[in-house]
Amino acid sequence: MQSKFDPKVFQLGYVALATPDIQRTKDHYLQNLGMTEVARGDDGAVYLSIGYNHHDLVLRSATQKALLHVGFHLKPHIAVNDIARDARELGLTATVKTDSQLGVAEVVEVEAPGGVVIQFYSAMEAPAPGFKQGGASPLRLGHVAIISPEGDKLIAFFQDFLGFWLTDDILGIANFLTCNREHHVVNIVKAPQFRVHHIAFELRDNACHAIAADALRGNGVPLLWGPSRHGAGHNLASYHHDPDKVMVEFYTEMDAFIPELGMCEPRPWHEHYPMKPRSWAINELNAWGAEFGFNLAVG
Ligand SMILES: [Fe+2]
Repeated sequence: MQSKFDPKVFQLGYVALATPDIQRTKDHYLQNLGMTEVARGDDGAVYLSIGYNHHDLVLRSATQKALLHVGFHLKPHIAVNDIARDARELGLTATVKTDSQLGVAEVVEVEAPGGVVIQFYSAMEAPAPGFKQGGASPLRLGHVAIISPEGDKLIAFFQDFLGFWLTDDILGIANFLTCNREHHVVNIVKAPQFRVHHIAFELRDNACHAIAADALRGNGVPLLWGPSRHGAGHNLASYHHDPDKVMVEFYTEMDAFIPELGMCEPRPWHEHYPMKPRSWAINELNAWGAEFGFNLAVG
């Protein structure tokens, strides 16, 4: 059994998306997010970096948009083969792959409940192409939100197999889990479909929300929601669509979870002290009470 205080992974490493127009989608992440194309695979996949890692986002051509896989960085004492063995003991398909993608020499690919493909790796190349100036230019990839018809099983996989902590939920539909100090590293949305709800990038500071919004507007990309503060997680967040209508979040001031205390670090804007995991109502999606035309719950 996984130790309650020892998740097997410590951060989300990358997200891989299929796109019907790889040039158009790539241009969005290059121009509007300031990412850098580090490499292109023989299969045409492009590897995009925020500034340090070999990749934070992978794009592959396909007839339809899709979430291909997500990658999590293993803690140093957990080996790829450990994950493969433990996943198979659970009855899951686990395949160790070497040189299946650029920048990561070895991964174990596990098919989690609901068909979510999760890769685990111990090391990634860090060519450090540098952070871009201006535009959104986020600091890092922070979390991914996945809509799954097998949400309960997927949540159990993250909690029981990987050791994630459940930090909050909204109506029991959106479920926030973390493997580190950030309030959430994954958000599992229980609904009868399988797709990515959004991918989220952390900005440098709150002022960068305005800089990012202006940069998006300059390229004709409207915001859908925010910037505004959430209830669950209390992140100051804005959302926009990439060209495939995959939602992208920019955020700052995400709650810091203290697993040893089962609560988030107190903040002046918290509604509850101590800020422990709770179930939030839909009208608490926006802590400031602002209403936006876009229905973020449907996304
Ligand atoms: Fe988010």
